[in-house]
Amino acid sequence: MCGIVGYVGHRNARDVVIGGLRRLEYRGYDSAGIAVPGPEGIEARKKSGKLANLEAELEAHPIPEATQGIGHTRWATHGGPTDENAHPHLSQNGRVALVHNGIVENFAELRAELEAEGIEFLSKTDTEVAAQLLGREVAKGIDVSEALRNVSRRLTGAFTLVAFDIEDPSRVVASRRNSPLVVGLGEGENFLASDVAAFIEFTREAIELGQDQVVTITREGVEVTDFDGNPAETRPYHVDWDLSAAEKQGYDWFMRKEIYEQPRAVADTLLGRFNARGELVLDEIRISPEELRRINKIVIVACGTAFYAGMVAKYAIEHWTRIACEVEIASEFRYRDPIIDPMTLVVTISQSGETADTLMAVRHAREQHAKVIAICNTNGATIPRESDAVIYTHAGPEIGVASTKGFITQVVACYLLGLYLAQVRGMKYGDEIKSIMDELMGMPEKIQQVLDSIEPVMELAAQLKDEKSILFLGRHVGYPVALEGALKLKELAYLHAEGFAAGELKHGPIALIDQGLPVFVVVPPQGRDQLHEKVVSNIQEIRARGARTIVLAEEGDTVVEPYADLWFTLPRVSTLLQPLVATIPLQVFACELATQLGHDVDQPRNLAKSVTVE
Ligand code: AGP
Repeated sequence: MCGIVGYVGHRNARDVVIGGLRRLEYRGYDSAGIAVPGPEGIEARKKSGKLANLEAELEAHPIPEATQGIGHTRWATHGGPTDENAHPHLSQNGRVALVHNGIVENFAELRAELEAEGIEFLSKTDTEVAAQLLGREVAKGIDVSEALRNVSRRLTGAFTLVAFDIEDPSRVVASRRNSPLVVGLGEGENFLASDVAAFIEFTREAIELGQDQVVTITREGVEVTDFDGNPAETRPYHVDWDLSAAEKQGYDWFMRKEIYEQPRAVADTLLGRFNARGELVLDEIRISPEELRRINKIVIVACGTAFYAGMVAKYAIEHWTRIACEVEIASEFRYRDPIIDPMTLVVTISQSGETADTLMAVRHAREQHAKVIAICNTNGATIPRESDAVIYTHAGPEIGVASTKGFITQVVACYLLGLYLAQVRGMKYGDEIKSIMDELMGMPEKIQQVLDSIEPVMELAAQLKDEKSILFLGRHVGYPVALEGALKLKELAYLHAEGFAAGELKHGPIALIDQGLPVFVVVPPQGRDQLHEKVVSNIQEIRARGARTIVLAEEGDTVVEPYADLWFTLPRVSTLLQPLVATIPLQVFACELATQLGHDVDQPRNLAKSVTVE
């Protein structure tokens, strides 16, 4: 989704804004622009394509020195990725420049109102409507903060707006509804951005903003009100990572760096979860044990990779707590009139905490008086702020669009939630919980073990780079791992990849098996009822029809070896925890194959890191 930067301070605004947009590139975009106040009026430059095109434009047509400005990277929604549709948009009277993230749903009627007054639109965007409305307000002599409140009250949909008035350039204003915006607090300077990565090199002190709020930044300070002008409550916080965490540190891709950060990310997510009595504590869970004991159903809601983490969680949570646990795609959830009530615990999983589909599901759940726990990797994001409780994964910033450490730590957080519920409801004794936690504490080392022996996976990626289709099979918790492996390949290599429950193959998909077709199979640990034997039979079935079987199985599993054309060993772990090691080779495979194809692994085509539109 779009990246936004606003600045007022003592530095060269062009450097701060362009530098901030560069740190937001991972969000995915197809045009970029900047605007600063100049002696002759607003100076705006904007270009379709990547930031390099905007920088070339700035070389050809420099903007004047300024200490305030706004910038934007756009992921096209209304109107194609053209120069005209790029942000910032200026009002016809030349008073304001404005950038926007989100969708103004009632833009058509507002545009008609403005055209009837003689406003001529230069673009096809919903954003330009907000710019023209704001320009009309300040022309009435209303100060730009009040003017933005007036405009914001008229808009419906999801929006973050950032703007300035050329006649009052000492301030930059912004408003937000259902769309991310964070304030950076500096010395004699202040920042606005879609996320903290844009200003982290200048300050790690931030303010999270609430729904329907307008913020005004000047060199001296920050003022936050609601849309009616009443002073609003804000929550300052310290960002717990620094600029180096947002840099590549010598890796070719952020994604590869994040794959290798997974041992540490899991360790950090597990940190501090036990009290002196050896009991599991989840400090941000603001739901009482009594309320948790009354829960009779759990519904996990998420999108994409986060949804697959939820699928893994289902197996663990039901096994440990014996509470029925459903897993729902967020974009389907609220439209199917789900059966939820105050005895339902809704668990949302979101790395960014800004995914619109998941946010809308949270709101729907709360309207039905369900309790909502958010599992999130972004401090202060909208979803945890609108939930009853939160379990933060401590994976650090995940810049690569394809989620890796986000997924692994989401699974860990789901395990923690399952164990906590089992503890609170007396379904597991303390020693049983401790034994599972002890194995979890050993997982960073197991993940490192997989990474240390990953070379054959890299070689396989080079061998398979021209394949047109690759399948993934798994059973039990191996099934969501197969789905995640397929998604990684789709989003990075742009090739057909599909994950199946291995038992489903004979009900149709086995017709896809062709001579030499590569099929990854995630094999469960041995000794688990017939699960292992059933998967071995599935491997024999597809091999008999010509498949090239690429098997992920635990070390020492000699049963599966005769049926594996290629065999990657996994460290021996319990069945429910196997996704934490089985997923790693699939992440590396997708990253490497995409690299071999020359794709942009960190910013795959058509994708955005956080999908803040429904
Ligand atoms: C994962 O690789 C994808 N980029 C995508 O499926 C992502 O998991 C999904 O959009 C959910 O994002 P969230 O975790 O930030 O809510």
